[in-house]
Amino acid sequence: MDIEAQKKAAAEAALAYIEDGMKVGLGTGSTANYFIDALGEKVRAGLNVTCVPTSIASEERARALGIPLAALDDLPELDVTVDGADEIHPDGLVLIKGGGGALTREKIVAASSARMVVIADSTKLMTAETFGRFPLPVEILPFGAQATILKIRRVLDALGLSGELKIREKDGQPFITDNGGLIVDCHLGHIDQPAALAEALIAIPGVVEQGLFVGIATTALVATEEGVQTLNA
Ligand code: A5P
Repeated sequence: MDIEAQKKAAAEAALAYIEDGMKVGLGTGSTANYFIDALGEKVRAGLNVTCVPTSIASEERARALGIPLAALDDLPELDVTVDGADEIHPDGLVLIKGGGGALTREKIVAASSARMVVIADSTKLMTAETFGRFPLPVEILPFGAQATILKIRRVLDALGLSGELKIREKDGQPFITDNGGLIVDCHLGHIDQPAALAEALIAIPGVVEQGLFVGIATTALVATEEGVQTLNA
């Protein structure tokens, strides 16, 4: 199975967690798109679900497929969210998310769900030694961005972490999130204390959210050459 086939296989396996009448959070990204497409087919076949998207892109995709949508304000407690990840740490299913810049809404929606099912291809499953290679996305307010970045740097120094901090760009301009925020990508190379780092980053004024998901994911469906592997937190 190539990587695209793995993403699709993981996404289709997540359908087993969806029951008629459920309120479902829809993730963001290429793997989540496969799930939205598969769910759209089920809805066309008669499945009754109401979904809360985590980004404008996922909202538009789901709407085009005829999936019934609601705002989180109208459905503040969901049954399950299905979403991708940039990295999965097998111990406790700690995630790095935000490669697509949707981390804040993704975290709000996942944290409002009884379960979070992560869908991923085999390249996303890390070990304690390799976790943190993906640059950690941190969403910040544009106001005082340099002052916030300085504080992020100090937090990293205090935890013995180093690496380049880059404001994400798209087409030569700062990338702006669906919330009007900026993304600072922290190129750390390795993260060995994700919970401590998450706690310290979120305490910085100006940080809207950070991409470490600690204690949120309940299940990960990781597709490999051999099939889809289920990991539980
Ligand atoms: C979006 O902001 C991210 O959190 C995505 O869920 C993550 O980047 C995984 O995306 P892919 O499924 O496209 O790799």
